[in-house]
This record gives sequence, C-alpha cells and structure tokens, in this order.
Amino acid sequence: MMQTNKTLGGSQYIPSLPRVSIQVFCETSDLSAAIQGATSDRRMDKVHLKVQMGGGAAAVEAYRHSPTPNVIVLETVSSRNEILEHLDSLSEVCDAGTKVLVIGHVNDVLLYRELMRRGVSEYLISPVSSVDIINSLSSLFSASDSPPVGRSIAVMGTRGGVGASTIAHNLAYTIARYINIETVIADLDLAFGTAGLDFNQDPAQGIAEAVFAPDRIDANMVDRLLSRITDFLSILAAPATLDRVYDFNEAGFDSLLEVLKNTIPMIVLDVPHVWTAWSRRLVINADDIFIVASPDLASLRNAKNMLDTFGMVRKNDNQPKLIMNMVGMPKRPEISVAEFAKNLDMQITSVIQFDPTLFGAASNNGQMIAEVQPKSKVAESFMELAGLITGRTEIKAQKKSLLEPLISKLSKKKA
Ligand SMILES: Nc1ncnc2c1ncn2[C@@H]1O[C@H](COP(=O)(O)OP(=O)(O)OP(=O)(O)O)[C@@H](O)[C@H]1O
Ligand SMILES: [Mg+2]
Repeated sequence: MMQTNKTLGGSQYIPSLPRVSIQVFCETSDLSAAIQGATSDRRMDKVHLKVQMGGGAAAVEAYRHSPTPNVIVLETVSSRNEILEHLDSLSEVCDAGTKVLVIGHVNDVLLYRELMRRGVSEYLISPVSSVDIINSLSSLFSASDSPPVGRSIAVMGTRGGVGASTIAHNLAYTIARYINIETVIADLDLAFGTAGLDFNQDPAQGIAEAVFAPDRIDANMVDRLLSRITDFLSILAAPATLDRVYDFNEAGFDSLLEVLKNTIPMIVLDVPHVWTAWSRRLVINADDIFIVASPDLASLRNAKNMLDTFGMVRKNDNQPKLIMNMVGMPKRPEISVAEFAKNLDMQITSVIQFDPTLFGAASNNGQMIAEVQPKSKVAESFMELAGLITGRTEIKAQKKSLLEPLISKLSKKKA
C-alpha cells in the first residue's frame, strides 16, 4: 500500500526486525534525521544499518561491485523517470532476495504503479517519521505472507573425519566476513562438535539448551545462546560433553530451525556424519546441501547413496553440491576427481587439496584459513564457494533478480 503520513501511536505493536542488513540512500537531511532516530529504537537492535546520501544514483554506483543487502531504501526527490531508471539499473545487480523500499515526495499514482510493477515492496510519501520507517521495515519481514529471512545450508560428510565441519566453519566465516551477511553456525554434533574450538570460544551455553527445551525456544532464547565471533558471525556451540546422551526424535530440531530461519539470514548447519531420523530431516529440509567427500571408494559409494536419497525427496530443489576435500595426500592411492564426477554423473563444485600444515595451524590456533593464510588457494576456494552460495560471482550475470521478470515482461510489451 502507498502510505501517507500517519502518526502511529506508541501502542501499536511493531515486531522487532531480524538480523538483516539495510542500506539507506537519502537525498534530504530530513530523511537521514528520521533514520538516525530509527537506529536507536530497540526493534532495530539487530539490524546492520548503513546510511548514506545520494539517493538512487548512489545506490546504482554502490552495487555495481558489491553485494546487495536484504533491504535497500531509496529516497527520491526527482522526476518519476529518474527513479525508474535507477531501479532498472539496480535490478541488473540486485540479489534475488533484496527488497526495495522507496520514499518519495509526491503522491503520484502512476509512479506508485510503476514501482509496484518493478517489484518494489513499498512506496512511502515524505515526510516520514522514525516510527513510520521502523514500521515499514518491520512489516517487510513480519507480514504473514513474507518468506522466512533465513536460508539454511546443510554440510555433511560422506564419512567421518573428511573435513565437513572445517568446511562448514570456513564457509560461514567467509560469507560473514567478506559478504557481510549475518550468519550462524549451528553445531549439530552435540557430543563431539568442534565449532567452539575452531573459533577459540568456550561458551557456557549453546545449542543443547535449545534442543532440550523445545517448548521454550524463541528468538530471545536463541539470542542468549549465540556466541558472537565477528561482526556478522555467531555460533550455536555444542556442549561437547559426555555426561548425557544425545538422542533426539525426528522433529527434535524443528523449533530451533524455525526460530533461526525467522531471525538470521544465513544458517550453516554443521551436520555430523550420522544417519538418524533428525539428521536426515535436517539435511532434507535444508535450502541447500553440501556433501563433503574424500577421494576414496567408501566416500564415492556413500556420496552416491546420499545423492540418490536426497534427490528422491528433493526433486524440485537445488541439487546438492559436492566438495572434494583432502585431495592429493602424499603416497595415498586416490580415486581421481574426474572419476568421481563420472561415477556420480555430476560436476564437482570444489576441490580442496590436502594441506596438513595450513589446516593444522588453523585448527590448533582456533583460527580460520582466511586468517592464517588469506592469499592461499584454499582461502580462495572458500571465497568462490561463498560467492556461489550467495550469488556474488560471475554467476551473477546469469542470475535472475526479483525485479527482472517484471522488467523483461515490460520491455516485451513495449516491443
Ligand atoms: N584439506 C585438508 N587438509 C588437511 N587437513 C584437513 C583438511 N580438511 C580438514 N582437515 C583436518 O581434518 C580434521 C577433521 O576435520 P573435521 O573435524 O572438519 O571433519 P568432519 O568431517 O567434520 O569430522 P566428524 O566426522 O568428526 O564430524 C581436522 O583436524 C581438520 O583440520
Ligand atoms: Mg564434524
């Protein structure tokens, strides 16, 4: 709906925003002042907010080479055509999930219609108050028909010890650090998980508190259980103690996953190498699956079985991606990557070499590969994978944006 300036009473319920990134491009100091007012609101606590001047033109410039956030807010004081041109340029670089909110200075129905046609989420008419802004931003995520903000990626090994957790942690770290997407690692290996060790953290509480009290799980509880690692990364660590056993039923992680998906944009599930009702369900229900395999016969057989099993129930989902790890171990006879690809009838997404010096140093220091050796081939591989997951590489050229189908329809009509 086009919103005119309405005063929202303090009594109106506005849900808090999830941990999303929002970038605002103002043209007037009035709007930047209103945004400043919104940033100190408790409902905006979790948001990564960036404000700059320059309106649509600045936004087009900003996203030529960098990722688009969850929400872009554009102020426009100029003509109808100018903002539409800016939106069309933006649509070429916008990630599929990015929402756009436009704040204009005229009550222009034609403009409104054109904006909606281009997939813009909302058009607000200036002047807007801080509460108007919080309300509009919040409703982008809390409306009953809005999809969950979080995307889950399950990482599972074909055997024990193939490096699935190492890859999950490095991948999450890379997405958070270089693409600035708020990311959480859920360590699902409750008895033996290493997320805490790998990030040099020893949190008192973590994932066990949540899954042993499924009725009490909500966003506040999860917030409390997260250990912050970097600006954009946190972990839900495993207790890694053996004083109890960790048998869960099939739906044991459902409530936790639901809360995570409603609050955090990127969820990396570090799934142990077990085949139980809950692990199967977690992987099958993930938005994307990464299978980590070592170059041996058992891994090849298991990868095939995993691909067949997941494929059967995920006919309309992305195909799992296969990462080969620890390739090229000296003196070890290996099945070649080409042979793997041929037998599985799929492309191998990434090949990571066996490098005990680098991985050993990272592991013993509680650091990630990008911290130990940022220029290494392995760090580069994680960058590529992070780019692949988030659509931030060459593949971007082929990627359809939210606005694109609408725009191509429009231009077809014109022709
Ligand atoms: N490419 C590699 N080269 C050398 N060492 C590696 C490589 N990848 C991982 N490692 C090391 O292998 C060990 C096991 O890795 P990790 O714990 O990630 O495996 P996993 O598949 O999660 O095992 P688990 O089955 O216990 O969950 C770690 O010490 C890690 O540092
Ligand atoms: Mg593991």
